[in-house]
Amino acid sequence: TDGPLVLGIETSCDETGIGIVRGRTLLADAVASSVEEHARFGGVVPEVASRAHLEAMVPTIERACETAGVALHEVDAISVTHGPGLAGALLVGVAAAKALALGLGKPLYGVNHLASHVAVDQLEHGALPEPCVAMLVSGGHSSLLRVADVTGHDDGIVSMGSTIDDAAGEAFDKVARLLGLPFPGGPHVDRVAREGDSVAIDFPRGLTARKDLERHRFDFSFSGLKTAVARWVETRERSGEPVPVADVAASFQEAVCDVLVRKALDAAASEGIDDLLIGGGVAANSRLRALAESRAETLGIRVRVPRPGLCTDNGAMVAALGAEMVARGRTPSSLDLPADSSLPV
Ligand code: KG4
Ligand code: ZN
Repeated sequence: TDGPLVLGIETSCDETGIGIVRGRTLLADAVASSVEEHARFGGVVPEVASRAHLEAMVPTIERACETAGVALHEVDAISVTHGPGLAGALLVGVAAAKALALGLGKPLYGVNHLASHVAVDQLEHGALPEPCVAMLVSGGHSSLLRVADVTGHDDGIVSMGSTIDDAAGEAFDKVARLLGLPFPGGPHVDRVAREGDSVAIDFPRGLTARKDLERHRFDFSFSGLKTAVARWVETRERSGEPVPVADVAASFQEAVCDVLVRKALDAAASEGIDDLLIGGGVAANSRLRALAESRAETLGIRVRVPRPGLCTDNGAMVAALGAEMVARGRTPSSLDLPADSSLPV
């Protein structure tokens, strides 16, 4: 009931997301996804994503306003993802946000996509614990962040580590493809793994050997794991034996989740921080959630994970971070705000 009324626009990948919040209260979260158009290519095609954003923008804004029962002229500010992400896709969102801000005479706030994956949690669980360690795992990123101020003010977000090759979600998608499961593969691997044995195959845990920990304590590597799964499946196929899809899925998923949880908890412990937040599409994974909760409990670390619908890309996260920027008195962006595909945190 109080706090600024903010409309947020997300177009960094294949979801056109429009969110409306009042302070930490979610009023609308409209998402139009072009994922089905990309499915037959086995991955997101940038040009296809940009055009889909263009087509979905106005109807999705209208749908969000209708759900929230809000007229555009009532909003206090517009926020938009200006990076990182696909350059052309980001441009559509940034252009729309500028047009709205200019037309309505309201301030514009460019926000970082990774920071908004963190900020979204407060729509569900209330004010963010700051400082906290945030682990962001999605199709495009796998990062460990130390978050003292989610708006990024005064170096409020510091990257502790990230993937040196594939993102966690990318590994899920590639392994799903190997196993003949549809794109995006994460949810399918999650589902199939429930019927499998997670200790059937001992897949490698990237960057966990002592020699790797010296330089890469908080970094991830998933390409070796993906290759190991491919080799294992190939060997099986060559021998003429059937591939135990559920066991491969469960053992692969266990390897990913084991490393993610181990490193996230180590990062929190190393900073003396008791709050771990997990976000991004892979945070929807049931095994990741369960493993993080059980291991954190024994260490006295609290874990916050937004519900799956808020973990995958959406506009609510952008609105949530925008509202926080307004509430904390951050300086609005200028109307020259650039889209920056490799924006750092
Ligand atoms: O955050 P997101 O929607 O988009 C990016 O910014 O990338 O994340 C999408 C990724 C995809 O790789 C998808 O396979 C993965 O999240 N994902 C999952 C699950 N649900 C989505 N991975 C594992 N288990 C899931 N349940
Ligand atoms: Zn994302």
